[in-house]
Amino acid sequence: MDSIAVTGGAPLRGEIPIAGAKNACLTLMPATLLTDAPLTLTNAPRLSDIRTMTTLLQSLGAEVQTLQQGRVLALSSHDLTSQHADYEIVRKMRASILVLGPLLARYGYAEVSLPGGCAIGARPVDLHLRALEAMGAELDLRDGYVHARAPGGLKGAVIEFPFVSVGATENALMAATLAKGTTVLRNAAREPEIVDLARCLRRMGAQIEGEGTKTITIEGVSSLGGATHEVVTDRIELGTYMLAPAITGGEVELIGGRRELVGAFCDKLEEAGIGVEETERGLKVARRNGRVNAVHVVTEPFPGFPTDLQAQMMALLCTADGVSVLEERIFENRFMHAPELMRMGAKIDVHGGTATVTGVERLRGAPVMATDLRASVSLILAALAAEGETVVSRVYHLDRGYERVEEKLSACGARIERIAA
Ligand code: UD1
Repeated sequence: MDSIAVTGGAPLRGEIPIAGAKNACLTLMPATLLTDAPLTLTNAPRLSDIRTMTTLLQSLGAEVQTLQQGRVLALSSHDLTSQHADYEIVRKMRASILVLGPLLARYGYAEVSLPGGCAIGARPVDLHLRALEAMGAELDLRDGYVHARAPGGLKGAVIEFPFVSVGATENALMAATLAKGTTVLRNAAREPEIVDLARCLRRMGAQIEGEGTKTITIEGVSSLGGATHEVVTDRIELGTYMLAPAITGGEVELIGGRRELVGAFCDKLEEAGIGVEETERGLKVARRNGRVNAVHVVTEPFPGFPTDLQAQMMALLCTADGVSVLEERIFENRFMHAPELMRMGAKIDVHGGTATVTGVERLRGAPVMATDLRASVSLILAALAAEGETVVSRVYHLDRGYERVEEKLSACGARIERIAA
C-alpha cells in the first residue's frame, strides 16, 4: 500500500485545476442502463471509484470505453447480459446501489448486493428501497442481496423522503424517468450532483422539473435516448484545495471553481479570515498573516456546509486562534480523522456528533493513517502546515476520490511525494 510523505511549512502559490465531480459521475454512469442508445460523459475524473463503477457496469454487459486518458467515458447498454450486481464489486463502493433503480425501471428485474463503502456509520439503503416500493417494486432481501421485481413496470408515485438522501433521490429519479405516470419526490436532495443528473436525463429525453429544489416532478416516458453530457465540477475537490492555501498561507487560484457550488463553505472560510475572490477562471483563495479565527461549523444537506468537507475544515481549525466547534449532522462516526490529527499535536474533544477543537500554534509532523476518503486528505492538509515530516499511510482511500493529489499540490510549491509500497 502506497503512502504519501509531506514536509510542511511551505506557503502555496499557483493554480490548481478542479476535475469533474466523482459523485456526479458515479450517478451519471448508471444512467446508461436506462437506454440502449450511447451515453457519453465528458470531464470525467480519473479515480479508482470510477474504475469500480466501470467494472460493475461491464459485469452487467454494458460497454464502457475510456477515451482521452480517462477524461471521456463512452457508455452503451444496448446489449445488457445480466441484471445481477455482484457482492464482489458492490462491496467496494456504496454508490453501486445506484444501478438498482435504472435496472428495475428498464428490465422489471434486478438483483443487487447490499453495498459497502467508507466506514462512516451504518449507512443503510432503506430510503432507496422504500422509494422503489412506492413505485410498485416487490423487494425481497435475502443472502445479502436485494431481489427486486416490477413485473408490470414501475408506476409513478408521490414519495416523501423522511430525511434528505442524495443516493435515494438519485435512484428514485432515475427509476421514475421510465415509470408509468407522474412521480413527485418531496424532501428531495438539492445537491449540484442531483441537478447535473437531472440535466443529463433530460438530454436523454426524460421529463423532469424542479431539480435543485425540494420537490422534483418526473413524468415517465416509454424510452430514453442517448446524450453527451459534461460532468459538473467537483465541489468537494474544490473545497479541499481551497483549504490548502488557507492552511499554509499563500494564494492559489482554483480553476473551474464556482462559488455557488460551495457557498456555505466559502462563508465559513471568510468568517475564519480567509480571502475568497471570484475570478474569470475560477476562485482565488488567499490567507493573510496571522492565525485564522475559530468558527462553528454544522454539516447539513446542500446548500448547507457539506459533510464531505468537515474533516478538511477540521484540519484548518486545529491551528485557529480559539475554540471551534464542528457538529456532524449527516453521518454518525465521522470523526475518525480526529485521533490522527491529535497525533500531530491537535487538541480535539469528540462527544457524539460534536467535536470541539482548541487551536494550537502549530501542528507537528507524525506518522498517521488514512481511515476514509475525506479523512485521508484532511491529514495531508494538516501535514502541509505542520512542522517537519508527516507520512500518511493507507492512501488507497485517497485514490478513490482525488486524482494526482501530489502533482496538484507540488505544482503550487508543496513538498509532497508518493512512496510506492
Ligand atoms: C452521498 C455522497 C457522499 C456524501 C453524502 C452526503 C455519493 C456517491 N456519495 O452519499 O460523498 O457524504 O451523499 O452528502 O454521492 N441514509 C439512510 N437510509 C438510506 C440512505 C441514507 O439512513 O436509505 C442515511 C445515511 O446513513 C446518512 C444520511 O442518510 O446518515 C445521508 O446519506 P445520503 O445522502 O444517502 O448519502 P449517500 O448518497 O450515500
